[in-house]
Amino acid sequence: PAAPLLAPSLLSADFTRLGEELRMIETAGAQVVHVDVMDGRFVPNITIGLPVVESLRKATALPLDCHLMIVEPLRYAAEFVRAGADWVSVHQEADLHLHRTLAAIRQAGGKAGVVLNPGTPVETLVDLVGDFDFVLLMSVNPGFGGQSFIPRVLDKVKRLDALRTERGVPFFIQVDGGVSLKNAGDLVRAGADCLVAGNAVFKAADPRIAVTDLLGGMAA
Ligand code: DX5
Ligand code: ZN
Repeated sequence: PAAPLLAPSLLSADFTRLGEELRMIETAGAQVVHVDVMDGRFVPNITIGLPVVESLRKATALPLDCHLMIVEPLRYAAEFVRAGADWVSVHQEADLHLHRTLAAIRQAGGKAGVVLNPGTPVETLVDLVGDFDFVLLMSVNPGFGGQSFIPRVLDKVKRLDALRTERGVPFFIQVDGGVSLKNAGDLVRAGADCLVAGNAVFKAADPRIAVTDLLGGMAA
């Protein structure tokens, strides 16, 4: 299997210096940029939207991974691809028509992901295998950076890994929320391919070293 990917979450970055933050994580070796889009309805916080994604697109060559924490994601999902997102993920809990939304993301040229909240079982995805490119498992309740990791996600990663083996469909598994050096190795060993990290990168004394250390912890 390919080396696991680190996706720093810009939610914890300095919004007055997004261009510099992007260059910093890129030169430090991170492979993906995680962008948290919140609408104040699906989650109790409002963050960034399409114009910022368009600007980010001009400022980095790394894949932009847009995590949509919004109601009615079908209304906007393809727009995010057109704005420059490479990966777009939508919450299973926010979408009555996931199959259609995933198809719209792929049709626009993006990789389509499904996000599951901590309380949503991975088994709800069995009849969508093949229709998504990745699954994002939340290891906190979405809405804010800097929350504590919920360890039960480890079992969900393992069950999802077993599901893809059983079905022979190579979707990738991402984990988001409270990721740190304490749990990065365990997550990768359980089957995670991509870890999102906000505070563990941007609130570290030296964010560059934090990226190096996390990549090291993921490889070990
Ligand atoms: C939470 C967001 C996460 C968050 C991660 O709703 O989806 O991406 O920014 O931040 P940390 O790593 O600090 O939990
Ligand atoms: Zn996120």
